[in-house]
Amino acid sequence: ERVGRLTEKKILLGVSGGIAAYKSAELVRLLRFEGASVRVVMTASAIQFVGPLTFQALSGHPVHTELLDSEQESAMGHIHLSRWADLVLVAPATANLIAKIRLGAADDLLSTLCLASDVPVIVAPAMNRGMWENPATQENLACIRDRGIRILGPDQGAQACGEKGYGRMMEPDAICDQLAEIEQHGVLAQTSVLVTAGPTREAIDPVRFLSNHSSGKMGYAVAGSAKAAGAQVTLVSGPVTMEDPGVHRLIRVETAAEMYDQVVQRAADFDIFIAVAAVADYKPVVAGEKKIKKNKDHLQLSLQRTKDILGSVAALKNGPFTVGFAAETENLESYARKKLAVKSIDMIAANWVGRDQQGFNVDTNALEVFWPGGCQSLPLTSKSILAQQLVDLIAERFNIQKPTPA
Ligand code: PMT
Repeated sequence: ERVGRLTEKKILLGVSGGIAAYKSAELVRLLRFEGASVRVVMTASAIQFVGPLTFQALSGHPVHTELLDSEQESAMGHIHLSRWADLVLVAPATANLIAKIRLGAADDLLSTLCLASDVPVIVAPAMNRGMWENPATQENLACIRDRGIRILGPDQGAQACGEKGYGRMMEPDAICDQLAEIEQHGVLAQTSVLVTAGPTREAIDPVRFLSNHSSGKMGYAVAGSAKAAGAQVTLVSGPVTMEDPGVHRLIRVETAAEMYDQVVQRAADFDIFIAVAAVADYKPVVAGEKKIKKNKDHLQLSLQRTKDILGSVAALKNGPFTVGFAAETENLESYARKKLAVKSIDMIAANWVGRDQQGFNVDTNALEVFWPGGCQSLPLTSKSILAQQLVDLIAERFNIQKPTPA
């Protein structure tokens, strides 16, 4: 079946300056035929080969060409464009662009997007045979491949310059097949994942609440990585300012009780549950209907426990593979192992809070992951890379543990 294999996929297609740019027009048509949304970015030299209007007509959206174009920045700025995408595909990728990606250069829109992107980047090189064979290009390719960029092609055959050999861009239908293959064989393909993220707010009165410093960065990164790994993701989020990571369903809640209701009623329908949210453990017994007046020197709040979302999901009969988080300021390993055992969950990812560059409201983190019979350290790195590593680990354990179909 060659239709709809990329449904809901948001692809940012970068076109750099080579004669193969004309084939990318057909590529846009095929990607849309497969169900993907496509936005196109062209380099200045790509425009010399094919007019942006061709790509605009085929993608149904204006083509982006300038890094600092005030008109386009106001419609969809370059950082927003890279956050919109699930995947950056550069086709054709010239030798020059590949060299820039390797160097981390960001002197035009496309190279900047490749550098800023935290979603998978795939390149389809196209160049003259001699340029392809040059050790400089081969070293550049080996380096970017090691960093996780996937290389499609190139093909062998007659070239526009009259020579023969490797360097022709992979044909558009073969590129589509490869993308569909990657989509269908991600580590969480055909898996449904429920993620919680962010803090909760427990009202004290109409103007005050109890909460914590969770920004949602870790949970949104986990949801985004699960999606990139091919899962259907539902994200239940407390109040944060993060953008939707493009999940299948985003449910916004405010309180621990609302999060409990949204999660527990649907958890049994999911294969995996990942509880990243920093849920309030206590809430005021009564929330004042009117603003509490400051007419006393001391004020006592009476608090009661909230319901344990993670524990309730773990207790479900035929429930999902359940992953908890543990935020600790001391005894990280022993407290995390205790939570793993007491809540009888399948895995726990523990992080330090109150330490530099880790935990709440920063872009980096480190995790100590425990499961019955094993553990793994994921050292300090960006939350987006860490989320990918955690998702790989979850997929590995889930696949070992999941019941084999009758
Ligand atoms: O959002 P960021 O700013 O990026 O910060 C990320 C983070 C520090 C919030 C995150 O990495 C993290 O550690 N999340 C869990 C925080 C937490 O509440 O830890 P805990 O040890 O108190 O709770 C243990 C587990 O029980 C968690 O999976 C939590 O979601 C869950 N829980 C807690 C209370 C409750 N009533 N129900 C629950 O399900």
